[in-house]
Amino acid sequence: MTASHAPASVRPRHLLAIQGMPAAEIVRFFDLAETYVAQNRSPDKNTSLLRGRTLVNLFFENSTRTLTSFELAGKRLGADVINMAVAVSSIKKGETLIDTAMTLNAMHLDVLVVRHPESGAVRLLANKVNCAVINAGDGNHEHPTQALLDGLTIRRRKGHIEGLVVAICGDILHSRVARSNIHLLNALGARVRAVAPPTLLPADLARLGVEVHHRMETGLVDADIVMMLRLQTERMSGQFVPSVREYFHFFGLTREKLRAAKPDALIMHPGPMNRGVEIDSEVADDIKRSVILDQVELGVAVRMACLDLLTRPAPATGAI
Ligand code: CP
Repeated sequence: MTASHAPASVRPRHLLAIQGMPAAEIVRFFDLAETYVAQNRSPDKNTSLLRGRTLVNLFFENSTRTLTSFELAGKRLGADVINMAVAVSSIKKGETLIDTAMTLNAMHLDVLVVRHPESGAVRLLANKVNCAVINAGDGNHEHPTQALLDGLTIRRRKGHIEGLVVAICGDILHSRVARSNIHLLNALGARVRAVAPPTLLPADLARLGVEVHHRMETGLVDADIVMMLRLQTERMSGQFVPSVREYFHFFGLTREKLRAAKPDALIMHPGPMNRGVEIDSEVADDIKRSVILDQVELGVAVRMACLDLLTRPAPATGAI
């Protein structure tokens, strides 16, 4: 692929959430990402599609997968990519998020990828800049590109998403990954279960059409997909589980608990994993069942698709 996109239109497009995204748009991301999976597996991975475009990664929280894959995605599409070092930026001198965004905006960026600990902060910032903004995770609200890569992983392995039983297990209360996945899986017709102790479940799950279970033994019955989440202690104030040892006993995924799921059920995890807390190494490393590294691989392709679509000339609404 060598053609360059037309110059960016005046109205930028953003990817801030999965909530409200029509199924056809989700499938559009998947289909475009498929072309990038093939490209990423070829010896010549780079194109000039985004030559002359500038991508800045602005991460206020730690990241391995999301940050690295956005950097790789931008570089493989030929963009200039800068990972802004927040720890040594003027944010440390008291500059606000909005002033930082407007300062970066004045440098004529094309895409700003933002991760922030506060829910809603990325949308706030998107309203202040002229470039496309991608939410790389805001508080416990959404992590849209994670859900897109999770959905693509399921579609590639199972051939479809509609009708599958997906058990999302663990710290759903603090998880932006769970929230984005619930919206995506609902939009595509999956049956979503939330499996967690009552202390780790948000109040609005029933409204989202999710079946709630408090025991892995029932929540995993006949599941096609078992998606594990870590305890997000960085977002916890107070004690949400009695102890890590007890949590693992009741909610850690082991080979024994997995027996309740379908024999061909897939194990997923967005990472980073905490082995011996929410997942046992024996199942995390089971090459027949675990697709955790597939998720990482597809993350690059999905983010290339996002950068590609967001930098295309925008329709009148500015939506994706
Ligand atoms: N899944 C995910 O967001 O991982 P990172 O925190 O490493 O980016």
